[in-house]
Amino acid sequence: FQPVAIAPSILSADFMNLGRDIRMIEQAGAGYVHVDVMDGHFVPNLTMGVPVVKQLAKLANIPLDVHLMIDNPLDELPWFLEAGADIACVHAEVLYGDELRRAVDMIHDAGAKAAVALKPHTPPEVLEEVIARLDMVLVMSVEPGFSGQSYIEGSEEKVAAVAEMARAVGNDALLIEVDGGVSEATVERLTAAGADVLVCGSAVFGAQDPAAALAAVKEKGDA
Ligand code: DX5
Ligand code: ZN
Repeated sequence: FQPVAIAPSILSADFMNLGRDIRMIEQAGAGYVHVDVMDGHFVPNLTMGVPVVKQLAKLANIPLDVHLMIDNPLDELPWFLEAGADIACVHAEVLYGDELRRAVDMIHDAGAKAAVALKPHTPPEVLEEVIARLDMVLVMSVEPGFSGQSYIEGSEEKVAAVAEMARAVGNDALLIEVDGGVSEATVERLTAAGADVLVCGSAVFGAQDPAAALAAVKEKGDA
């Protein structure tokens, strides 16, 4: 048995009180700070970049899980790694040929953990060449771009498929993260399918009592 880790997405936090919100999620038992970097090209939204990651790295006592929704990860990875990303997560859809392997190498060479994200329509087979060496796979359960969307039903099947692929290559340490529309209502089937890390944006920061909401999702996941 492995307890589930919650990675609150600070995209839904109060940007004017980011420090306060980070302390709140740490005290409530969050495992990671999920940082949604969007470039306005890979996704229609534009959020935060290197300077914010740098400040967060100084402030946070739990690892930064940096989700790079950007068109040119190979160009920008060095900056995010230098800024202090503990986990750097690149999207498979923008890495062609041997670029995915190069991205994983670049992340590991910097001493960070390497993650690859899959959009809802991207098949897990694209991970074949790298899954044995990955630290984490992020399964998107909404189209990337915005918080507050509804969970795409059946996303847990991709979680199970990734778990199976990891087992087949003997990568028992691989973490599977699910991102998008995760709430108390979806936790149980995700953990049953093999999810280890759950991103929560609106389910935590949109709640009346965010700390209690985080604890409730975690408790459901651990049950
Ligand atoms: C979507 C982002 C998510 C999002 C999660 O593109 O990657 O991390 O902020 O927010 P909720 O949990 O509200 O779907
Ligand atoms: Zn995300």
